[in-house]
Amino acid sequence: MQVVRTPSAARAITRVLPHPLGFVPTMGALHGGHLALIERARSENASLVVSIFVNPLQFGPGEDYEKYPRATERDAHMLEDAGVAVLYMPGVEEMYPSGFHTRIEPGEIGTLLEGAVRPGHFSGVAVAVAKLLHVVEPTTFYVGQKDAQQAAVLQALVRDLDIPVGMTVCATVRESDGLALSSRNAYLDEPQRRAAPSLYRALLAAREAIEQGYRDPGSVRAAALARIEEPLELEYLEIVDPTTFASQASIERPGLIVAAARAGRTRLIDNVLL
Ligand code: PAJ
Repeated sequence: MQVVRTPSAARAITRVLPHPLGFVPTMGALHGGHLALIERARSENASLVVSIFVNPLQFGPGEDYEKYPRATERDAHMLEDAGVAVLYMPGVEEMYPSGFHTRIEPGEIGTLLEGAVRPGHFSGVAVAVAKLLHVVEPTTFYVGQKDAQQAAVLQALVRDLDIPVGMTVCATVRESDGLALSSRNAYLDEPQRRAAPSLYRALLAAREAIEQGYRDPGSVRAAALARIEEPLELEYLEIVDPTTFASQASIERPGLIVAAARAGRTRLIDNVLL
């Protein structure tokens, strides 16, 4: 596995790799969710590139940029074992040298739900991913359904900016108790960790209520709320259009139930498809 740190080195190597070329952008601290994307990408392509970049542009003031888990050596070993050809690991100064001011504005979807709680977050995601795609020029890049709104923002990004790349969304990988794997789960203390899977149970209860015939978001939300266990606090639970993330006033298929909860200072997000 070759490790490269600058856009020019990454571009020089990735353009001569055997194609089709798969690409998985990450922020590192790799877990089974990342590995599922990596294995899928490996099996569908002749070569695979993974990036690790903790992207300061997508963290708001007071968020966890400084303490976001970093495990570069361990990650590099995992990627080597997974058959990755190139690990692209730019520093902040390579991604955003002084004088870098360009922003990408995702529009309405960037202002809803996660975008409302985290202003500027999806703009930061879009800038980083657009830059990575322009350097790596993969055939297909792989993202997780766990971050459904991010996937929708990125799908719109490649369409709207005519980026010639395919995007594959991979199913959410969960712990045996249902908690979606996330690098931020490492922040949870024991009572928080015990309550954390209740977010997924709440989403399943919401879906069950809909399947039983409940049609108004109020009673669906009440069914979900009853499953949330202390010290977890539900931040939002919405039934949305999976492409625009606009709230659906009445429940239609295909739809997506998205939810966020807070465990102390840690935010958990999850979703289930209708
Ligand atoms: P990160 O949180 O490291 O996630 C990298 C990719 O792994 C994302 O596409 C995410 O949706 C996926 N992923 C995370 N947990 C998952 C799980 N439990 N099951 C399936 N997939 C999962 O998302 C980011 O990084 C960044 O925003 C990034 C896209 C790299 C831009 O900076």
